[in-house]
Amino acid sequence: MVAKIESLKNIPIFSSLSEKHLEELSDITLEKTYRKNQVIFDQGDPGNSLIVIKSGLVKISLVDSNNHEFIVKTFSVNDFFGEMSLLDGGSRSATATAVEDTHALIIFRNNFISLIQKTPSMALGMLTELSNRLRTTTENISNLTFFDAYGKVAQCLLSLADKLGKRDEDGVTIQLTLSRQELANMSGLSRETFARILKEFQVRGCLKVQGKKIIILNEKVMRREIVV
Ligand code: CMP
Repeated sequence: MVAKIESLKNIPIFSSLSEKHLEELSDITLEKTYRKNQVIFDQGDPGNSLIVIKSGLVKISLVDSNNHEFIVKTFSVNDFFGEMSLLDGGSRSATATAVEDTHALIIFRNNFISLIQKTPSMALGMLTELSNRLRTTTENISNLTFFDAYGKVAQCLLSLADKLGKRDEDGVTIQLTLSRQELANMSGLSRETFARILKEFQVRGCLKVQGKKIIILNEKVMRREIVV
């Protein structure tokens, strides 16, 4: 119980909660592990829970009738998702899939709504996060509309570098669990186009690919690709 409360405290949306509310939250939280490639929920499913990631990586995607995937967003440690249907009572707006083994906390709707009503600081934290997500979505629409293929690849890699990258004297290393197809699906490009441009960036000395690692060597030049 104490360990669970301590771990809830480290999650930004819960960090403003009092000990009493953390205890309440701990009582209504289930832990679950999803295996790599396991679908957590499908677009259109009824949504009655919020999911917080303790470890792992989850992709949020839309899939058309021909099985083409567009990855809207990836979430990693301490991120939450599933809040949209939890708050508005609608169905899941997209599909969530574990990209790697993912350990998660699950909080069900009725319990969570009553906790939000009692804790304005947490409600404000969620509103702030939702505003950030709306801002990012607007940026993504702009990127997909205005960037050429170089800009789309650069944007995809730079945003992964910001979120998951490790900086050292060589540059920023992204240890990937996403496949090349998934990177292309995040960029709105075909796999072939994504691979061709990745190669061109390598030839230009902007980055290096080592197995599952991509090392961004010249962030400044890559950033030039995403100036509208
Ligand atoms: P929900 O609609 O319940 O299920 C899918 C989840 O994906 C959604 O809640 C959000 O948590 C997340 N999601 C959907 N669209 C976006 C977006 N544009 N930006 C960030 N997260 C999103």
